[in-house]
Amino acid sequence: MRTLVDNIGCIFGIERQGRLRLCGEDMGRMETLKDAWLLIEDGRISAFGRRAEGVPENAGRIIDAAGGTLFPSFCDSHTHLVYAGSREQEFLDKINGLSYEEIARRGGGILNSADRLHAASEDELYATAMERVREIARMGTGCVEIKSGYGLSTEDELKMLRVIRRIRESVPLEVRATFLGAHAVARAYRGRQDAYVDLVCDEMLPAVAREGLADFIDVFCDEGFFTVAETERIIGEGRKYGLRAKIHANELAVSGGVQAGVRCGALSVDHLESSGPEEIEALRGSETMPTLLPGAAFFLGMSNPPARGMIRAGLGVALASDYNPGSSPSGNMRMVCSLASIRLRMTPREALCAATLNGAYAMGLSRDFGSITPGKAANFFLTRPLPSVEFFTYAYQTPLIEKVFLRGEEYR
Ligand code: NIG
Ligand code: FE
Repeated sequence: MRTLVDNIGCIFGIERQGRLRLCGEDMGRMETLKDAWLLIEDGRISAFGRRAEGVPENAGRIIDAAGGTLFPSFCDSHTHLVYAGSREQEFLDKINGLSYEEIARRGGGILNSADRLHAASEDELYATAMERVREIARMGTGCVEIKSGYGLSTEDELKMLRVIRRIRESVPLEVRATFLGAHAVARAYRGRQDAYVDLVCDEMLPAVAREGLADFIDVFCDEGFFTVAETERIIGEGRKYGLRAKIHANELAVSGGVQAGVRCGALSVDHLESSGPEEIEALRGSETMPTLLPGAAFFLGMSNPPARGMIRAGLGVALASDYNPGSSPSGNMRMVCSLASIRLRMTPREALCAATLNGAYAMGLSRDFGSITPGKAANFFLTRPLPSVEFFTYAYQTPLIEKVFLRGEEYR
C-alpha cells in the first residue's frame, strides 16, 4: 500500500548518502526540504520531493500534513525504563543537600530500585514500563534501548530482560536490550565486590545469553561502582557471547572508562560529564559514539560534558534520555535536545542529529532508522506549522507534535 504525506511545510533530517552517523560540523548540516511530499510503501520511506516539481498520484491513502514540519523519530539509545516504584524521597534528600553518591552509599539509589524490583511481578513491571513506552512514543521516540540493572541477582536480571523482550514483541517501536548486571554491587554482596563480578560473569551472563535476551552489555564504570579492570573483564566475557559493549563512563569521576570503552571497541560510551581533552583524544578515529545525557546532568545538578570540544574535534555525538527513577525521571527527547542547546551549547540542528541518526548508530540501527532516507523505516512525526526547525526545541514546552508514525502507521 502506498501512502502519500502531502502538504509538508518542511522535512528535516534528510540523509541522502546513507551515512551511518554524522560527525563534527556535519552534525549541524542535516538537509531540509521545504514545501514537500513523502511517500511510504510497505512501512518504509520510498521517496520524497518538492511539491512544485509534481506530487505523485495513485496513492492508496493521503495524509495531509497541513503545512507542519516532518522530523525523523527520536532514537533514544540509553534508558532504564523498566523499574518498579519511584524515588521521589531521594529527590527530597538531594534538595536537602545529599549527593547522588551519598544516597548510594546509604543503600539508596540503585539498591533501592533493586529492592522494589525484587518485590514486583513480571506482569506489574511490564504494565508500568509499557506506560512509559507509550509516553515516549507519543513524544516522538521510535527506537529505544532499555537496560536491565535493577535486578542484581540472576533471577531478577532475567525477569527484567524478559519484560524488555515482551515490550519488544508488543510495540511498533524498535527496541534493543542491554544487560547491565554490573550496575551496582547487590546488597547481599556488600564488601565482596569480586564475588559479585564473578556472579555477573559466570552465572548471569551465560543465563542471559542462553535465552538470547540481550543485544548489548553495559557496566557502570565509575568511582564507587566498578573499576576499569572489572569493566574490561565483564566486557571481555560479554564478547564471548557476541554482546557488544555500551558503557556508563565518567559520570561521577575521571574513571578511565572512556579509554577502556574505546580499547574494547564499545559501540558507545555514555554520560562523560567528567571528561576533557584526553577522553576526546581517545575517541578520535574510533567507532565508539560518545553519548551525552543532559537530562541526568540537569536533574542531579552535575557538570556538563564538553560537547562543543567533541564536535570541534570532529567527533559524532549522540544524545539520549537516560530515563530512570534516580537520575532522569523523564524520557522526553525533545526536552533533552533543548537541554543540549541550553547547557551544552549544541545548536538545535546538531542536537536533533544527535538524538536521531547518531542515537540510531549508538544502537546499531542507523541502516534502517534515524533519518529521512529512502528505504528506511517510515518512523517520523508531524508538527504544527513552525517558523523554523529551531523553533521546535526553542519553544520546549509548547505542544507542537500533531501526529506520530511508526513503520508507516499512525501511532495513537
Ligand atoms: O545512568 N549511572 C548509573 N545509572 C543510572 C542511574 C540509575 C539510578 O540511579 O537508578 C544513570 O544515571
Ligand atoms: Fe544510565
